[in-house]
Amino acid sequence: MTTVGFIGSGSIGRTLARLAVGAGHQVVLSNARGPETLADTAAELGPRASTATSEEAAGAGDIVVITVPVSAFPHVPATPLAGKTVIDTCNYGPERDGHIPELDNKSLTSSELLLQYVPDALLVKAFNNIFFKHLLSLARPAGAADRSYLPIAGDSAPAKAAVTEFIASIGYSVVDAGTLADSWRQATGTPVWGTPYGPYSNEKGQPVGEDAIRAALATATR
Ligand SMILES: NC(=O)c1ccc[n+]([C@@H]2O[C@H](COP(=O)([O-])OP(=O)(O)OC[C@H]3O[C@@H](n4cnc5c(N)ncnc54)[C@H](OP(=O)(O)O)[C@@H]3O)[C@@H](O)[C@H]2O)c1
Repeated sequence: MTTVGFIGSGSIGRTLARLAVGAGHQVVLSNARGPETLADTAAELGPRASTATSEEAAGAGDIVVITVPVSAFPHVPATPLAGKTVIDTCNYGPERDGHIPELDNKSLTSSELLLQYVPDALLVKAFNNIFFKHLLSLARPAGAADRSYLPIAGDSAPAKAAVTEFIASIGYSVVDAGTLADSWRQATGTPVWGTPYGPYSNEKGQPVGEDAIRAALATATR
């Protein structure tokens, strides 16, 4: 059993929290507006879920998930994340986040930008390439023939191993997509982003195997 802290509890955060609770983990949810606004969500998730401030959720998690708009990166608490395995689900969208020059000119990936705000976190990019409804519906037990794969990218081998174990526990297998600098291969608009799991109009999605994820990563262009 792992405690997973959430900085951000929107579509992706709540979906991951639901999968994590279902797998027997504890979750600590936080958002921008304050813990009291997450009381109903925590009640729905049951006794393994609690609410906190972002600082408290970051401190409580064995693994912490950052799942906020990229524009919120400057507000992510750095100190409690030092030395921790941290999952970054975030995608850059200038229409939502405003223009960020280093991302527009591709001198940084969005995960490298996040790392500048949480420099001592062991960051792993994951879940950014799957629609939250597909994330919920495509989870399968280990050994299922139609288990889906997700790319992960990061600079710390132990953090990647911890994230791989967590992802396995909630119903997915992983493809190692390299470092945070390599994570542009799974960024918004790349072949591995969204499309393999099916159109948004089909909420069930379609399972995606290892070869398809590897092929999509290999054909990405920057
Ligand atoms: N939606 C998807 O299917 C999907 C799939 C893959 C990746 N992503 C990416 O994952 C990230 C989250 O997406 P989402 O769809 O879950 O977004 P969302 O539904 O808009 O939720 C965003 C969450 O971030 C919280 N937040 C914003 N600023 C914060 C701050 N300073 N401190 C703590 N929490 C803060 C919000 O809190 P409040 O509710 O209090 O405002 C909300 O809980 C985005 O970068 C998105 O591009 C989304």
